[in-house]
Amino acid sequence: MDQYLQTDNSRLCFSSFGETNQETILFIHGFPLSKETWEEQVKFLSPYFRIVTYDLCGLGNSSNETGFVTIDSHVADLIAILDFLKLKKVNLIGLSMGGYIALRAINLFPERFKSVILSNTRADADSNEVKEKRFAQIAALTSGGHADFAQGTSMALFSEDFRKTNFDKPLNLKKYILSQSKIGLCGNIMAMASRQDANSFLAKINLPVLVITGDNDNVIPNKEGLKMKTLIPEAQIYQIKEAGHLSNIEQPVVFSKKVKEFFES
Ligand code: MLT
Repeated sequence: MDQYLQTDNSRLCFSSFGETNQETILFIHGFPLSKETWEEQVKFLSPYFRIVTYDLCGLGNSSNETGFVTIDSHVADLIAILDFLKLKKVNLIGLSMGGYIALRAINLFPERFKSVILSNTRADADSNEVKEKRFAQIAALTSGGHADFAQGTSMALFSEDFRKTNFDKPLNLKKYILSQSKIGLCGNIMAMASRQDANSFLAKINLPVLVITGDNDNVIPNKEGLKMKTLIPEAQIYQIKEAGHLSNIEQPVVFSKKVKEFFES
């Protein structure tokens, strides 16, 4: 069931599943998605863990009035949810932009996390070239290009192989992106463009870390995950075959089993 929490940045929509006395996993979705992307993981994992999912500020059902979103404001929201639910220390998983937020959260508030999964993500900040692409996306979104943005993004996030047999997923994602506010989309694009490079932090991570990559991920290729794994002292890596950028959707069972195994170990 959806619940709401007013923070400094947003009226945040979140859900909690499973028994409250179980170990908690907090899930952070990617861009431009919502907590619904964790549907298969919630089904698979909620008999074993308490699961908390939420919509990032400006996406899904979490509002953003100002258009000002940063990775740090996302971290402040996440901590507000933990405080509201009286969760002192949790396991964390972030996919893609959710991984950027997870890395920053464990940097700023290491005492609030037991272990972390960084899925289909990277530690590098945007290059100047990527920043320019993001600014062009914002310009297009604010001048009538919402449909093209939804079309392009919904195709790019899924691998070609997956799209061949799952026509409905990009279509549904396109509809969903079209239903999202342009302010929220643009705010989150700026948040990604302005994020810090996290590479120098990786060697200081003092938590068990699992890095997940997808062999068919064309948005954040395997090599980014491998690079993080070599720089983080306690890191393991799991490369999922036949999975694109949204590896939790393209390979839900393989993904969820690995999450269970890692957080139980
Ligand atoms: C995401 O999936 O969260 C985004 O594609 C990541 C990015 O654009 O850097």
